Amino acid sequence: MSAIGIDDIELATTHHVVRLEDFAEANGTDPDKFRLGLGQDEFSVPAPDEDIVTMAAAAAAPIVERCGTEGLRTLIVATESGTDQSKAAGMAVHRLLGLPSRMRVVEMKEACYSATAALQAAVGIVTRSPDQRVLVIAADVARYELDSPGEPTQGAGAVAMLVTAEPRLLEIEPLSGLNSADVDDFWRPNDSTTAIVDGALSVTAYLDALTGAWTDLQEQGGPAIDEIDRILYHQPFTKMAKKAQLHLAGLTGVELDDRIVASPADSAGEGPAGEGPRDTGLATSTLYNRRLGNSYTASLYAGLCSLLDHDEDLAGKRIGLFSYGSGSVGEFLTGRVVPGYERHGRVQAVTEALDARVPLSMTDYRALHAAELPSSEDHTTPRVSTGEFRFAGIRGRARLYERA
Ligand code: HMG
Repeated sequence: MSAIGIDDIELATTHHVVRLEDFAEANGTDPDKFRLGLGQDEFSVPAPDEDIVTMAAAAAAPIVERCGTEGLRTLIVATESGTDQSKAAGMAVHRLLGLPSRMRVVEMKEACYSATAALQAAVGIVTRSPDQRVLVIAADVARYELDSPGEPTQGAGAVAMLVTAEPRLLEIEPLSGLNSADVDDFWRPNDSTTAIVDGALSVTAYLDALTGAWTDLQEQGGPAIDEIDRILYHQPFTKMAKKAQLHLAGLTGVELDDRIVASPADSAGEGPAGEGPRDTGLATSTLYNRRLGNSYTASLYAGLCSLLDHDEDLAGKRIGLFSYGSGSVGEFLTGRVVPGYERHGRVQAVTEALDARVPLSMTDYRALHAAELPSSEDHTTPRVSTGEFRFAGIRGRARLYERA
């Protein structure tokens, strides 16, 4: 049976950014609370003419341009920031990208976890029909109430992945560890634009899911800790990945390097690399996320982009990925990096896109956060973003999108 996995991957984010330094100053908080306490420097914020559809299209467009549409018969968009209760956000993405009509398009939901369900569904489709390719896009906007503890962990982003046979980046291995439990740690009722969260419970629910998924992986005969070279975690804030790394070290009895970098410019990390603890790429995998904020479904895969773009020694290495979605589902899966995976120029392109975001003043950020666009009235959104795809407004209660 041929190897199946991720053949190409791309990350996209928003027009605006909030710098946590500015946020700390406005709130009278010590900036180290965010930089060190949460492991975050910035968070992406969509302009009024951006949403998950524009980010999803922006992430997938370069893949479609590079790889074409031959054999592409499925598009799955994973999101918890759905734009409609009925119509999949992927329908607009499908049109914006000019994808073939002979395709199935569907949306998947289970908090931050569903991109992993989408990836596994894609692997299943390609296993049955190796001549087919599946486009999986994780896209989300993380929104908490103003002045709530979750507010500095907001963010936005999209990651698009092409799943094929004989992939060029990451071969997904068949075994994975699973864990589900009905927990009210974080959710968003249908009539709310912000999430409701029990912060302390969410952290323990995440770690409990890690215990369950890791234990299941071992019971299934999956790789032991010393057979996994790099480990990625869902990153609602990068300090959570550090907590997860310490938790896994406790579960396995193996000392794992739990340093996360102090800032994107300081890739040396919080202190000198110590002898002893195994470096599993934790710091390297957090470089993009500490600038994006939480991108929910996209977060784990933004971590994968960061690792692939910054670690030059991954060929043939096994990566463990822990996916978590509140509510809650955890899955610990593994994959092998394909030799020749090098992604020349990606760091520069992603860094330029992150640097190009336009910082919001605290006044403008709070006004944008509070602005509720009624879906019941026709309106045209102001032209703010400069990307290729725009949310143009609402006509007859339908959302309109444009490609420049
Ligand atoms: P908080 O009020 O910031 O908590 O809320 P805190 O006061 O305990 O501070 C956080 C850390 O900063 C602590 O370190 C402090 O010591 C440290 P820790 O004990 O965690 O190691 N600190 C400082 N460090 C240096 N200098 C200072 C300083 N001051 C304090 N001056 C909380 C934190 C996570 C609860 C909040 O941000 C929140 O509610 N976030 C949203 C929920 C969340 O992200 N949960 C994570 C797990 S659930 C998940 O991942 C799923 C999710 O992505 C959703 C989905 O699945 O769809 C959220």
